[in-house]
Amino acid sequence: MVGFCARLLRFAAAARVRGDRAGYDFARGLLWECDARLRHFAAGGPLRLPIVDLADLVGNLALPVSAAALRTEDGGVSPLESLCLAALVRHRAPRRIFEIGTFKGRTTCLLARHAPPDAELLTLDLPPEAVPAMAVAPTDGDLRYIAKPRIGECFADDPARGRITQLLGDSRTFDFAPYRGTCDFVFVDGAHSYPFVAADTATAFELLRPGGVIVWHDYKPGCPGVVRALHAIADERALVALRGTSLAVHWPPVGDVRPS
Ligand SMILES: C[S@@+](CC[C@H](N)C(=O)[O-])C[C@H]1O[C@@H](n2cnc3c(N)ncnc32)[C@H](O)[C@@H]1O
Repeated sequence: MVGFCARLLRFAAAARVRGDRAGYDFARGLLWECDARLRHFAAGGPLRLPIVDLADLVGNLALPVSAAALRTEDGGVSPLESLCLAALVRHRAPRRIFEIGTFKGRTTCLLARHAPPDAELLTLDLPPEAVPAMAVAPTDGDLRYIAKPRIGECFADDPARGRITQLLGDSRTFDFAPYRGTCDFVFVDGAHSYPFVAADTATAFELLRPGGVIVWHDYKPGCPGVVRALHAIADERALVALRGTSLAVHWPPVGDVRPS
């Protein structure tokens, strides 16, 4: 690491001395990119939610998950995160689940498969054509996942399709009133910048029935918006991070029906 930095600086200095403009610009570009990425990485501050193991939440729950359900893709959850989500849903047996950020619908199907057979799933995503009218613009990082030909393609032919309601809109301005206080499980995985995560987090608590559970994806150093939004409420809300994953969880004890 120190060797790499020293080499890069020596390279830049030598390129400058010999008038090698392209070599100098290349080295300077690398340094700028490293600096920007480092600042972005550090922007959320160190992670500080208490870390728990999955078993601390669900005990010794046995879990049949198909290998196909553990497939990963850029923008989706990891195999371990899929397992954890399946376990959390199995353990809580929610009657109504709300997902913010459908993407291709892979996690929607996973949640549906592990919820009780009569559970209902609502999943919201932003159509790309709605972006130009948004008052708060998504970041380039989020636009990568917003720009897709089809939302929820994975559940088009899934046996759970009949229990999934697909909703379209910007989660900051969407009218959640019909679902307020009716959800047992909310999965927050929409846009990643602070204004969106803060709004989605407030929405998630409004959606919950007393005793309901919220899971956030991307509580990790590379996602400062998620980290900041969760740290901002960590003193008032019971939040934990799941070891080995980027999942953060609001997990009231089973049977606790006090408002969250
Ligand atoms: C990382 S992907 C979600 C991945 C998905 N939950 C999964 O596990 O496969 C983020 C999704 O959030 C959606 N999104 C971004 N901004 C949004 C907004 N303001 N309102 C609703 N959805 C949004 C994007 O279109 C994208 O599909």
